[in-house]
Amino acid sequence: MMSKPSILVARAIFPEVLQSLAQVFEVESNQADEVWSGEELTRRMQGKVGALTTGSERIDAALLQANPQLRIVANMAVGFNNFDVPAMTAAGVVASNTPDVLTETTADFGFALLMATARRVTESEHYLRAGLWKKWSYDMFAGAEVHGTTIGIIGMGRIGQGIARRAAHGFGMNVIYHNRSRLSAELEAECKASYVSKQELLKTADHVMLVVPYSAESHHTIGAAELAQMKPTATLVNIARGGIVDDAALAKALAAGQIAAAGLDVFEGEPALNPDLLTVPNVVLTPHIASSTVKTRMAMAQLAADNLVAYLTGGQALTPLNALPGAAA
Ligand code: GLV
Repeated sequence: MMSKPSILVARAIFPEVLQSLAQVFEVESNQADEVWSGEELTRRMQGKVGALTTGSERIDAALLQANPQLRIVANMAVGFNNFDVPAMTAAGVVASNTPDVLTETTADFGFALLMATARRVTESEHYLRAGLWKKWSYDMFAGAEVHGTTIGIIGMGRIGQGIARRAAHGFGMNVIYHNRSRLSAELEAECKASYVSKQELLKTADHVMLVVPYSAESHHTIGAAELAQMKPTATLVNIARGGIVDDAALAKALAAGQIAAAGLDVFEGEPALNPDLLTVPNVVLTPHIASSTVKTRMAMAQLAADNLVAYLTGGQALTPLNALPGAAA
């Protein structure tokens, strides 16, 4: 009998997904969810033809060079800035991600953060839990209006469009967006979204929502200069990636009241946070959970697993990020 191909599941995942992988592969797993260094990850990859990773594991040229047997790495995330895709392509390694299955859930969470931020949900809850609520008062935690205001979306991919639909159709908001490329007229009409320059968006939006993928070009899309262009009553939500916002500049702007409030699900250097963010009250902080419903995280794990099974049993990866000779992209 032929031995099963060996794979690495680099982080803890749903046991049922692990069990289904074990039917097809020899699996080394990390159900203890230990945090491995780059060297440890490289060492654990030895002898593996496939790997299931999350956004926390970096796949770079050095790891690929040390593992010439590797054929595919399936990321359980839609973002893939932890992958050096050109290096993977050069090494003949398929890269895959988990698009589509998380779009609506992540758009829901963008809205959850927007609502919590504008309406000061966590700030007021902390006040209540601290036993400070003694009486009703007319301006207690008076926040910013959401319905009927203008939302500015930076990054108008699938998730950005999901947010635009919620904003326009559910909350009667005026939707403006900025993106590398303009949407088709049909999509703009469906999302009721108007294309504007980044500067126009920052000046006009009551709420700015960041949904742009991380790259060298999108690093610090929002820094001190951009925060200075926003309305003092505006809110900012980042569900994209740490590094899209200059967190130190944001903490300063929040402390100075340069903008009203922010909601952040992602951070520069996470899980470490800029300590100044912890001392300003007008920020809602969540630990990178925008796609985290049981159903969606299960769908993401399953899609990552399906990519491994499809490719390593002689088919094509289902959601590849690169085109290799003999592997469709
Ligand atoms: C999460 O951040 C993802 O990219 O799926």
